[in-house]
Amino acid sequence: MKMDQPVKRDDPAYANQLHVAVIMDGNGRWASNRGWPRLVGHRKGAERVRELVNACPELGIRYLTLYAFSTENWSRTTEEVLGLMSLFGRYIKREAGRMKQEGVRMRIIGDRTPLDPKLRALFDWIEEDTSANDRVHLTVAINYGGRDEIRRAAGAVAREVKAGRLDADAITDATLSAYMDTSALPDPDLVVRTSGETRVSNFLLWQAAYAEYVFTPVLWPDFSPETMSTILDAFGQRERRFGGVLK
Ligand code: FPP
Repeated sequence: MKMDQPVKRDDPAYANQLHVAVIMDGNGRWASNRGWPRLVGHRKGAERVRELVNACPELGIRYLTLYAFSTENWSRTTEEVLGLMSLFGRYIKREAGRMKQEGVRMRIIGDRTPLDPKLRALFDWIEEDTSANDRVHLTVAINYGGRDEIRRAAGAVAREVKAGRLDADAITDATLSAYMDTSALPDPDLVVRTSGETRVSNFLLWQAAYAEYVFTPVLWPDFSPETMSTILDAFGQRERRFGGVLK
């Protein structure tokens, strides 16, 4: 996205290029409200992910980035953590064929080092397997934290400076962006958080500097492509000035 002029969803130059990021919240409550285990909510949530990814071309979303597991989520019960990890693996295995067919390129962001080696291998495989796709870019944040990502990028930049490959005085925003997990993606235009919470929760802290935020009371397992469409319609009415003056 160009940073120097306001953009609108109905602007042809802008059409089908949106980067929407979602903090998928409320799975636990959705399940508890029905007297079901929390993992049932996460499973329903995964179905919603599948539906939304498939609807992206129609919605004009080229980049969809989803917060699936934060660096803080390790504090949940072992059962829930393992259940979520296994859900991520199952999603990849089950959806790989469809993603290839539909032109979906999948990436995983976050720190993979503490994850199960089998799951990490699956992440490597799906990233490679879908690397030629360009229609929809699905990015899933797992063991992701915005501060952790900035800390890792800062460390990498410092190592380059120390090695004499980078001039500390020549570091720009773009330099830092190139060291982020999201280096291949444009900044998000819109960040949506479900379930009525109005916190940013350490998601895309660097990248969302100019993003619009939308907070909806809908719980993630109830979030459909129609919900997203309604949000995008409202978003399309807003003008984004990027700190400048609207001409
Ligand atoms: C937050 O709701 C949701 C999560 C921590 C997990 C998100 C994961 C999925 C939607 C599963 C599938 C994802 C992919 C990409 C296959 P919460 O459990 O914190 O809800 P609560 O606030 O009601 O407890």
